Amino acid sequence: MTAAGILGTGSGLPEKVITNLDLTQIVDTSDEWITTRTGIKERHRAAPEETTSTLCIQAAKKALKMAGLTPRDLDIIICATISPDMPLPSTAAIMQRELGAEPIMAFDLSAACSGFLFGVMVAEQFIRTRQARYILVAGAELLSRFLDYTDRSTCVLFGDGGAAAVVGPVEEPSGILAAEMHTDGHYADHLYIPAGGSARPASCETVRNREHFVKMRGNELFKIAVRSLEEVSRRVLAKAQICPNQLDLFIPHQANQRITNAVCERLGIPSEKVFSNIGRIGNTSSASIPLCLDECVRSGRIKKGDTVLMATFGAGVTWGGTLIRW
Ligand code: ACO
Repeated sequence: MTAAGILGTGSGLPEKVITNLDLTQIVDTSDEWITTRTGIKERHRAAPEETTSTLCIQAAKKALKMAGLTPRDLDIIICATISPDMPLPSTAAIMQRELGAEPIMAFDLSAACSGFLFGVMVAEQFIRTRQARYILVAGAELLSRFLDYTDRSTCVLFGDGGAAAVVGPVEEPSGILAAEMHTDGHYADHLYIPAGGSARPASCETVRNREHFVKMRGNELFKIAVRSLEEVSRRVLAKAQICPNQLDLFIPHQANQRITNAVCERLGIPSEKVFSNIGRIGNTSSASIPLCLDECVRSGRIKKGDTVLMATFGAGVTWGGTLIRW
């Protein structure tokens, strides 16, 4: 068995920034409400010509460069997204074409905010069993295209962005130490886009009823998120026989600063060991964790030998944790 780890990371963030003040011009909200309830101050928003694949491609090029690889070295491309360029074909297929990769296996993975860590776990299996050597895992969303800007309870939360990582063989003791992913569809209606799929195809009525936008039961999700993130973090740490106080860094999904604070308090992880960029980035769903990871790697916050726990929670509901030694 070959150990798998992350060889390179990259980000693709749209240039335009939307502040809380900007949103007060659109919906009945305030900087004070958004900041105290979520920790978000601003988020990026894609320009009309940008798409999920363009953000992924930007991020992928940087990740490949850091890994010292070219697109032709890739064996698999996984694109984690719930906001693909279009229903058909996959965004991963567009990435394969635009990157100039060989005609390798490329597919999209739908697990909402947990998509990136689901993708890394899938990639790990191929690398461990030597069926693939270099796998690009991207996480990207243009949720601004799926937000109802008359619904203040959702439109203030999400931002656009993309990030990618190259997963490949590493020398132990580096690499993925433990991981665990979950899905519980009993909460499928807590965060969803009702129309546009086979259950409720697009029609004049669905457009009129604003059914192509994100609907969320935020309050209920908040409690499930705190519980799931704590539980999965403990389980993944236990699998690797590591205590929370041995962690160098904790990267939680950036959904709400209050969720992060509650989870860290329960786990006993001090704030200086927790990474947060939610204030500048908002919730970018599947891009959230890889954007954090890339920022930490490039800024030197993650150093060789560091033990890093990433934990995620999202629609589905989905959740999971990945422990890695850099
Ligand atoms: N500005 C001002 N007031 C607002 C806003 C806003 N933007 N949004 C809601 N309010 C109001 C509500 O109308 C409500 O008013 P009322 O009391 O008069 O009815 C009041 O604020 C409180 O609303 P709550 O929903 O109870 O606010 P809460 O403190 O729960 O915060 C939030 C809402 C931020 C959505 C929070 O519940 C949350 O973060 N939930 C978890 C989200 C999450 O984890 N999602 C999953 C991951 S995302 C993914 O997978 C794509």
